Amino acid sequence: MILIDGKKAAAELRAELKEEVAELKSKHNKVPGLTVILIGDLAPSQIYVRNKEKSANEVGLKSEVIKYPDSVEEKTVLEKIQELNSDKTVSGILVQLPLPKHIDKQKVIEAIDPSKDVDGFHPMNVGNLSSGYESSIPCTPLGCYLLIKKIEPNLSGKKAVVVGRSNLNGKPMTQLLLKENCTVTITHSKTKDLKAECLEADIIVAAVGIPELVRGDWVKKDAIVIDVGINKTDNGIVGDVHFDEVSKNAKALTPVPGGVGPMTIACLLKNTIDCFKRSQI
Ligand code: GUN
Repeated sequence: MILIDGKKAAAELRAELKEEVAELKSKHNKVPGLTVILIGDLAPSQIYVRNKEKSANEVGLKSEVIKYPDSVEEKTVLEKIQELNSDKTVSGILVQLPLPKHIDKQKVIEAIDPSKDVDGFHPMNVGNLSSGYESSIPCTPLGCYLLIKKIEPNLSGKKAVVVGRSNLNGKPMTQLLLKENCTVTITHSKTKDLKAECLEADIIVAAVGIPELVRGDWVKKDAIVIDVGINKTDNGIVGDVHFDEVSKNAKALTPVPGGVGPMTIACLLKNTIDCFKRSQI
């Protein structure tokens, strides 16, 4: 079984991006800039944002974090986004989710200039991705995709099962696999026989947030299994895949932690650089 080392893959990607930033700097005499807006003091969000800032600095991006208290008015956030949209030193804007209840998430996402939307959540980018046009691609599915391609560069004709249909993961993951000519099945809580669906798969991407849902006898020998889950349980953090059982069957599997997570942040840096490059054309 190949244990897919997301930490190593992310470090390699960051090294490539660092070189690219240096080249862009010498060519344009400026570097891509990432601005993250963080609202409130949720611990996981604070940790994510700190890691994003650290990684952005490591590859040489200009990085800024704007923090607001939980009580900030929606109008203040929308005005800040407008300001960042017109700021030429800002290549990418990310508003850390989840947001406090009184702030309309969709309004915030749609306020971001699609050409600076490093999350790929703006409907324009969602549409472009599903139409096969150039777009920002949500960071987690992009990270999963790059890990899958490392194991199997030719995905044409493979059967892929995506477990979960969220806008953040399941749906964009499906689009990326479709683009690679996979036959993709999207499964969800109303799927009749999830085990039977998974048993058909050459590739399984589990992104539902149910601890250890995917069991050893759900997985065909030689399947590639990508675990997007991060679930807090009494036994610590576990993924959506039963690691011990599935590792006995699968050809390749991502661990949790150390699998998809590190790639997500590296892909955010990649998206920031890609937004910068498109803005220079
Ligand atoms: N919170 C958890 N994951 C994400 C993400 O990918 N983007 C944003 N903006 N917030 C998140």
